Amino acid sequence: MIDGFGRNIDYLRISVTDRCNFRCTYCMPEKQSFLPHIDLLTYDEIMTLVERFVQHGIRKIRLTGGEPLVRRDIGILIAALGAHVQQGTLEELTLTTNGSRLAEFAPLLASAGVKRINVSMDTLDAANFRNISRGGNIDTVLAGIDAARAHGLDIKINMVALKGENEDALLPMASYCAEHGFDLTLIETMPLGSGVAEREQNYISLDSFAAPLRARYNLHPLAHKSAGPARYWQVEGLGLRLGLITPMSHNFCDQCNRIRLTTDGKIYMCLGSELHVDLRKALREGSPQDVDHLLKTALRLKPQRHDFEAQLAKPELRLARHMNATGG
Ligand code: GTP
Ligand code: 5AD
Ligand code: SF4
Repeated sequence: MIDGFGRNIDYLRISVTDRCNFRCTYCMPEKQSFLPHIDLLTYDEIMTLVERFVQHGIRKIRLTGGEPLVRRDIGILIAALGAHVQQGTLEELTLTTNGSRLAEFAPLLASAGVKRINVSMDTLDAANFRNISRGGNIDTVLAGIDAARAHGLDIKINMVALKGENEDALLPMASYCAEHGFDLTLIETMPLGSGVAEREQNYISLDSFAAPLRARYNLHPLAHKSAGPARYWQVEGLGLRLGLITPMSHNFCDQCNRIRLTTDGKIYMCLGSELHVDLRKALREGSPQDVDHLLKTALRLKPQRHDFEAQLAKPELRLARHMNATGG
């Protein structure tokens, strides 16, 4: 699948639920309504779409949410997708999770052929973790991470940089990740969704956020790439691989390789755009050709880049859609 700007799309992010047992302040408002179950694609429908996507060149799939592990019987979907990895039709199956149900799911993930997972954790401080996630329990997350490690999964910690909220959490997090052999990815907060925490007040560039780490250690750029937009650095002396995701300060859209399937069957062509096609009707009432036709249309819709910088400066330009609808 080649888009209108010549980019090869081989990475599909599937949001399996918009629900979550946390309410991270930068992700969604405290009071949030969720899609009714009738609107959700069933696992059979998701797999039917996956067959089409794989035919068209998708090689990597990441499950996201909301929190993917809160959807009922998610093991059924993980196992079905894992079969593609085992057959070699998919190169990689991964998951981004808040970690709260990892202790229960680590064995299933490992046996399905998942090799690595990304776990969102913005601080190691229990009280601050509870504040940022609006109720999350850090001990449950840490126990989940331990279980995942015990089952041989590689772990990357996702830490969203939040001005005045978790700047002091960076050095402890870097040490924790180095000690346990995890990668750490820092992420600039994106102004997505209405009624969510004060975006202008929360935003800090990673140049500033990572300054205490740079002051203490030498950072060397690495050639390493993962499926997503992170650029990687080796933190010398600490033995840590650090990923930087900088949508706001250093745009990476020219390298974009991904599209997103929402819980209700829409394909969003960019995290920062409302442009989408709706596959659910074609899937339920049409033929595989109808789905393929919509996918072709979608490729032409993919914008060159997001415009989060302008949206940070001007609230009236912001998209109403929250991060949990597309899973980031
Ligand atoms: P790997 O590189 O495969 O480890 O994963 P990833 O970084 O793509 O996935 P993850 O779900 O961990 O996402 C990390 C952060 O990157 C989240 O904040 C996502 O919203 C953000 N992100 C992922 N893809 C894009 C993208 O296409 N555009 C923008 N602006 N942000 C993205
Ligand atoms: N900006 C940047 N990252 C975000 N995430 C959720 N909301 C935002 C936001 N507004 C992150 C989560 C998770 C990943 C899927 O997206 O922390 O790690
Ligand atoms: Fe849930 Fe992840 Fe959003 Fe936090 S960022 S509320 S853990 S979906």
